[in-house]
Amino acid sequence: MRSLSLVFIILVIGSVINAQNTDVVDIDSKVSQLISELTLEEKASLCSGRDDWSTQPVERLNIPWIWLADGPHGLRRAPATNKPGYGDQIPATCFPTASALAATWDLDLVYDVGVAIGEECQALGVNVLLGPGVNIKRSVLGGRNFEFFSEDPVLSGEIGAAFINGVQSQGVGTSLKHYVANNVETMRMYMNSDVDTRTLNEIYLVPFEIAVKKAQPWTIMACYNRVQGTYGTQSPYLLTEILKDKWGFEGIVISDWFAVVDRVKGIKSGMHIEMPGVNLVNDSLIVEAVKNGDLDEATLDELVKEILTIVIKAKSLDKENIDQNIVGHHKLARQVAAESITLLKNDNAVLPVNKKKYKNIAIIGEFAINPRYQGNGSSEVKPTQIDNVLDILEAEYGDGIRITYAQGYKLTDDNDFSLIEDAKKVASKADIAIIFAGLPLHYESEGIDRKHINMPASHNKLISEIASIQKNTAVILTNGSAVAMPWINEVDAVTEAWLGGQAGAGGVCDAIFGTVNPSGKLAETFPVKLEDTPSLFNFPGEEGNALYGERIFVGYRYYDERNIEPLFPFGHGLSYTTFEYSNISVSSETISDKDDLIVSVNVKNTGDVIGKEVVQLYINDKESTLTRPKNELKQFAKVELKPGEEKEINFILNSRDFSYFDSRRNLWIAESGEFTISAGSSSRDIRLTKTIKLQSTQNIPVAFDEYTFFKEYWDNKETRELLKEIVPNWIRGWTPKGKSLDEAEIPGFFSDHPMIKLPYISNGEITSEQVFELVEKSKNITFTP
Ligand code: BGC
Repeated sequence: MRSLSLVFIILVIGSVINAQNTDVVDIDSKVSQLISELTLEEKASLCSGRDDWSTQPVERLNIPWIWLADGPHGLRRAPATNKPGYGDQIPATCFPTASALAATWDLDLVYDVGVAIGEECQALGVNVLLGPGVNIKRSVLGGRNFEFFSEDPVLSGEIGAAFINGVQSQGVGTSLKHYVANNVETMRMYMNSDVDTRTLNEIYLVPFEIAVKKAQPWTIMACYNRVQGTYGTQSPYLLTEILKDKWGFEGIVISDWFAVVDRVKGIKSGMHIEMPGVNLVNDSLIVEAVKNGDLDEATLDELVKEILTIVIKAKSLDKENIDQNIVGHHKLARQVAAESITLLKNDNAVLPVNKKKYKNIAIIGEFAINPRYQGNGSSEVKPTQIDNVLDILEAEYGDGIRITYAQGYKLTDDNDFSLIEDAKKVASKADIAIIFAGLPLHYESEGIDRKHINMPASHNKLISEIASIQKNTAVILTNGSAVAMPWINEVDAVTEAWLGGQAGAGGVCDAIFGTVNPSGKLAETFPVKLEDTPSLFNFPGEEGNALYGERIFVGYRYYDERNIEPLFPFGHGLSYTTFEYSNISVSSETISDKDDLIVSVNVKNTGDVIGKEVVQLYINDKESTLTRPKNELKQFAKVELKPGEEKEINFILNSRDFSYFDSRRNLWIAESGEFTISAGSSSRDIRLTKTIKLQSTQNIPVAFDEYTFFKEYWDNKETRELLKEIVPNWIRGWTPKGKSLDEAEIPGFFSDHPMIKLPYISNGEITSEQVFELVEKSKNITFTP
């Protein structure tokens, strides 16, 4: 297959394109030439795939096809492009899933994972990896939460960008998915994400924006769902106005598998390739639309040009004889798993396991021999090997200690408590019980949302029962998304190990024995109960509509606003050492929206062991025209410190970090006023704050129309002048004797009406013409917010 592709590429671009160093200009001219030679039918054919996993070639012109394969936490390559790819795919390294990757908050490490997956793609002939997924975890119930990074847009976007840059550094493209507001699995082919424009721009679009601007993914995958009533595969607002025009996306858009509804509308909106390629009906609809004048051929040409650019680039970067490096990548997978381990609770320093203190260790729970390491659905990777905790412990940590094991629960029956008594016997004879529990595979899946956040009853009961007879009890959780912990006060330690991939067991052992000091932090809030969650009343949605009623208050923004104590807050994660924050300083206490602001913070390791801390920088706008969250994460940095070591961390903020999205003006606005900048170890563990003043120089339109209230026209200095000019008699009538017009006392009755109603309210004395004259004149008026 690879050598055949190479023949294609040599024929197509020959000396024009250097295999290593793609010359953009030459690709452009080659593409223009191909466009002139392609028939209309051939052009339409290039706008859908050839089969499940490849794009359409045009052999007559030696246009090659490229291979697309899932992602995201490892490569799921089918034996052939026309095979479904479930079950018999080629083994590849299964890295920890997205929840775990995000919990590392480590952009360099995520980049390395991208590089490794990119290498495996090259080794197995894949040109584009279908991932990463940067959809926001809007609800704890989201069936695919394990496959997405975070509830926070900045964290999701930064992790996504690092991953993309890693994969693409290997000459392999990515597909950033699922664009956009794809946050529910129920009715996923039809559900309308009923999200207001401000929320869409401030929360759901942001991770895509960051990833596009920082990493330029070769492709973006348009979602199944509708957004504001329009399918993601045919939305001019999303695909053209925002993606291309605003963000400068240079790649191509492909549809999620079977996500296309109206193909011609899709072409007009900028949706390049329909996947998978089994629907020839749509190709002929494109041809027909051009022939009957409904679709301008130039629009089609533009898309085909962009498709060919990516295809030719992809083929030119194909590498020969790349080693899949499964040994090296397994090691990396273990390192990532260890870095993602999030220590949620550790009373009495029960962890790390101290071999001098704990000679008899009870390992309880079937996950210790039969690990749950990834989620269900299209992201399922066939691993190259799977480690388990018992084997790792015996091989690497067993010296000088006695390890006993009890199954504790059955993976197949959530309510079977028959194994608990055996487990108690084992635990009662040990110095410490380490329980492996969490969510079995059928609890989290693409295509299905969760109905609750409970672990199986058998797991919960097992934990309580063991804790009742063993005072040293640590729980190690395996799950891709938040769970309730009714037993939280009964155990000393809880460690979140996520879905740790094929080498997850080694990562967990390293963390609980202290070879690696845990440094993971929650990328999602763990609520006490489902009833506390932001989208409770609007998830999954009803009658095909998912109302985003919590608006911008997603994740921790909601818990903060409502003053709800979560079980574990966003950004939380303990360490075996402690960190002290000091000396927050800013480059200037007053800035304008044109300035960058440098924020510096010192962090010191005040404990006895080496450790890593994730310093999180949050912003709060003290007073704002629009409601804003109490805390918004803007930056973060992970830093490693030896005992006693101290480092200064610098963050650079710009006006966008201080801005909100104004949907009336379709604009980001950095409003003048005071902002608090906080550095914290979690969203609820703020260590230092600093207040700065922003003096905006932005000039923004008043954006008034005939529905704007009289009061708003009056309150703005310049539109007030227009009122004085256009309806002077009225203003004069309201002005007390001897006072200036500016001191007019506008009756509340007038103030509270939109201008369009004034002719009616004034009994016709203010005319419609005067109102529209005012509206027209105010269009040119701007002000500084
Ligand atoms: C999923 C995508 C996946 C595609 C191909 C779809 O059902 O939503 O994430 O990439 O299938 O497997």
